[in-house]
Amino acid sequence: QELQLSLEQIEKGGYDHFMLKEIYEQPKAILDTYRGRMLADEGIIRMAGIDDNMNKFLNAERIIIVACGTSWHGGLVGEYLIEEFARIPVEVEYASEFRYRNPIVTSKDIVIAISQSGETADTLAAIKLAKSKGAFVFGICNVVGSSIARETHAGAYTHAGPEIGVASTKAFTTQITVLTLIALKLASKKGELSKPELRSLLQKMQLIPGKIEALLKIDDKVKEIAAVYKDAPNCLYLGRGFNFPVALEGALKLKEISYIHAEGYPAAEMKHGPIALIDENMPIVVIATNKGHYEKVVSNIQEIKSRSGKIIAIVTEGDTQVKEIADHVIEIPETEEALTPLLTTIPLQLLSYHIAVMLGKNVDQPRNLAKSVTVE
Ligand code: G6P
Repeated sequence: QELQLSLEQIEKGGYDHFMLKEIYEQPKAILDTYRGRMLADEGIIRMAGIDDNMNKFLNAERIIIVACGTSWHGGLVGEYLIEEFARIPVEVEYASEFRYRNPIVTSKDIVIAISQSGETADTLAAIKLAKSKGAFVFGICNVVGSSIARETHAGAYTHAGPEIGVASTKAFTTQITVLTLIALKLASKKGELSKPELRSLLQKMQLIPGKIEALLKIDDKVKEIAAVYKDAPNCLYLGRGFNFPVALEGALKLKEISYIHAEGYPAAEMKHGPIALIDENMPIVVIATNKGHYEKVVSNIQEIKSRSGKIIAIVTEGDTQVKEIADHVIEIPETEEALTPLLTTIPLQLLSYHIAVMLGKNVDQPRNLAKSVTVE
């Protein structure tokens, strides 16, 4: 048993938990995912799975993304990216709903299936259904040679390395990395992005690993915030645009490992329900980066404050407006708006991690959850 313990400690590489190790691995995981695929200064993206099937992508009437859990959130970011840049209509579906609702899918559709493990039963069944209806199916998986990787017509691996913690972290940010590359590649091929525009976006992408490295230094500050809110029974996460899916993912992380009830919402939807929950006991995490409808999010923050809610704001470095009103502020480095999910996700992962540790929960293996759900 002693041997077993020390082996596990070696695997954790000095971190207390796999989840923390995997959070800290994200700069490298993202770099590994785009390395060899993107030549930023030349404005070139090479992805064999896309290149070999370019006509299918260019002629697709619609892209349907199917996934479960965190990968579904990755898919939602993908929808925002692909529609924004490549201007191809995208729908994102829970694989479990898609497979059972007799969906309209034809050979003019492309289905993108996203799965860290490549073994999720519902996602696999959704792929088989889409194939039977003639759609071209593209996979985004982390586990090489997994069932989904084999079942899809083509695909792109995320190079996140093994993810052990049940709560997904680096798989999510590397899925977003792949989806960003796909969106930009299709956009440039379609003429929606000029070469200089593409080059500039890729150069900004190249700065992301370094920016996450710098951002991870806020860990102690996030820990202090975690100590203040660890006993809250509920927590709300708000974001808009590219950061709406990040709000959903932040809430999922908290639920999964700390068992605190949390909900993610598009910030502007707050007034249609969640606002009724707000009082002095309610912590609300608001993603308020300076480009994503900033003024509107600031007014959401004011609405929360006037109801005595506690605000933990994720803002862009140098922000002044939100600082005035929020109870806590976490700064992320400046980047292109479309790339902000890769940064805003990090403090939310750390927040849920520290709360779970403080509550004495089993961070790497939360109750009732499995890393890979191979049954319905
Ligand atoms: C389980 C895991 C989640 C994961 C989801 C989808 O619920 O606990 O972390 O996001 O399955 O898994 P996949 O391997 O398909 O991405």
